[in-house]
Amino acid sequence: MCGIIGYIGEEKASPLLLNGLRRMEYRGYDSAGMCVLHGDRMYVKKGAGKVDEINAKHNFITLEGTVGIAHTRWATHGQVNETNAHPHLSCNGEIAVVHNGIIENHQELRKLLLEEGHRFTSETDTEVIAHLLERGYRSGFDVRLSLLETVKMLKGAFAIVALFRANPDVIAGARKDAPLAVGFGKNENFLASDVLAFVGRTDKVVFLDNYEVVFVRKRGLEFLTFDGTPVVKTPVQVAWEIGDVTRKEFRHYTIKEIHEQPDTVERAIYQDRDKLESFCKIVRDSAKIYVTASGTSYHSGLIAKYLLAKYAKIPCEVTLASEFSSLNGLIDERSVILAISQSGETADVLHAIAAAKRSRAKVLSIVNVVGSSLVRESDLGLLMNCGPEIGVAATKSFTAQVALINLIVAKLSNGNLVESHLKSIVLRVQQVLRNEEHIIEISKQYSENPDFYFVGRGIHYPVSLEGALKLKELSYIHAEGMAAGELKHGTLALIDRGTPVVVINPEDDTYDDTLTNAAEMKARGAKIIGISTKISDIYDEFVRIPEGHESTYPILEVIPLQMLAYYITVERQQNPDYPRNLAKSVTVK
Ligand code: AGP
Repeated sequence: MCGIIGYIGEEKASPLLLNGLRRMEYRGYDSAGMCVLHGDRMYVKKGAGKVDEINAKHNFITLEGTVGIAHTRWATHGQVNETNAHPHLSCNGEIAVVHNGIIENHQELRKLLLEEGHRFTSETDTEVIAHLLERGYRSGFDVRLSLLETVKMLKGAFAIVALFRANPDVIAGARKDAPLAVGFGKNENFLASDVLAFVGRTDKVVFLDNYEVVFVRKRGLEFLTFDGTPVVKTPVQVAWEIGDVTRKEFRHYTIKEIHEQPDTVERAIYQDRDKLESFCKIVRDSAKIYVTASGTSYHSGLIAKYLLAKYAKIPCEVTLASEFSSLNGLIDERSVILAISQSGETADVLHAIAAAKRSRAKVLSIVNVVGSSLVRESDLGLLMNCGPEIGVAATKSFTAQVALINLIVAKLSNGNLVESHLKSIVLRVQQVLRNEEHIIEISKQYSENPDFYFVGRGIHYPVSLEGALKLKELSYIHAEGMAAGELKHGTLALIDRGTPVVVINPEDDTYDDTLTNAAEMKARGAKIIGISTKISDIYDEFVRIPEGHESTYPILEVIPLQMLAYYITVERQQNPDYPRNLAKSVTVK
């Protein structure tokens, strides 16, 4: 996933574009660049590395001009280097393009363009867009026709922003299967992959739909479908403020978002009642519910499975979005697919629900990002309301998902699970956060261990997977999450003297068996880090979580795991906000 932004207005564009790049850097951060139009000339600065590293070398804000585009990259095609950084230019340097997505037929288009005399400078798929726009100009087309002709030739996913030297009064955008939003300002307008890029300048937003283009001027915009039909769009107001996108007093977004969880859990369970009822009716009326998601959201899906079975007596199948094709033939018009996704842009999830819709299934969703593709593609979606999650590691979005799943299951459970058990959840989340100093101490002791294991039974098994994922993706330490009962079926062979094992074990019906498993590992030299409502001498380290209804324990027990991963990462002098090789949302398959 990459971050793209365009600005046209009356102020100097480069500082606004630079700020937008910094806000979107969580989308991809291996290279970045900017192109500004000033005095009839295009000026480009770009490089490999993080935005501030490139800025230190090129000083983006020296670029003059009130119209420009910029990009921060997560490489898909072409090495990470200055040449492959966006923006990419046409042969004559008169057209500049930034792009998020993948042009699947880029080789075929590159061949066609080379045969017509175009010369390429990069290895990227994106560069074909700049040359196709130039090809349109060479055929005598204006900006509008050149863009409409270009997008018809592209296959794959793309959000594009383009700048034209000969037309300084407009920036153009196009959207297919990758998000693109217009920010309406006062005598200025923005185009960006993400509202975060311009929050603070405007909260009036239009999200383009698939197969739409937009021509953005200082005053006034024109929306068309790819076949040139005008489209009327009504701006919405996004409820994100500047505070949502700054680190405030925190060192990293990751720890800030961990600490936001009392508020975000509360906001997640604050849902429109009619919408919640309609959501649950669709589940009730279906023959079978399938849950699909990726990564952390998949772990929430596994928790949904446990809760639906135990309290609503509803069986459900949970499938990784990337494995959804394994369900081929099972999905039909009586099926309901519940897709869970923080970003609403995960390519695997979008492909899964597209397949489900082709089988005439209904699609429900739990999403955080307003206006995201998943929201638009769902028959009905519930929003997690946890505000922008900028840290690459999902933290507040996980607990928001589990809280919302609790609410949904309570509605479906015919009284077996009541909403009132969620009443004290905010207080209990605040209580768990007060373990921070103790967890910092534990992190210091175990930051150099090469392997970690996380175990839990029942509803705590998905939490063990989540704890392992957090540690892996932030600290790069190998970690494995598993069902506690599985240990003696092989993995116990890996437990050695000093091996750290996090045992997730509050006092519910899994407690005794899991404690026995902990004792088995301790007997073999493991260091047991107990996460529980009750201390035990089996634990070498103990983190207390407050008692409450067992269905809410995943919300509480994951927080120490999030903090453990974060503080071990900090102890290892790594940046938890930008883990290597990763991006916040995986918008490619
Ligand atoms: C979780 O910490 C990771 N960032 C990743 O596994 C993430 O949960 C996954 O890519 C799914 O993202 P989504 O919820 O936006 O679909």
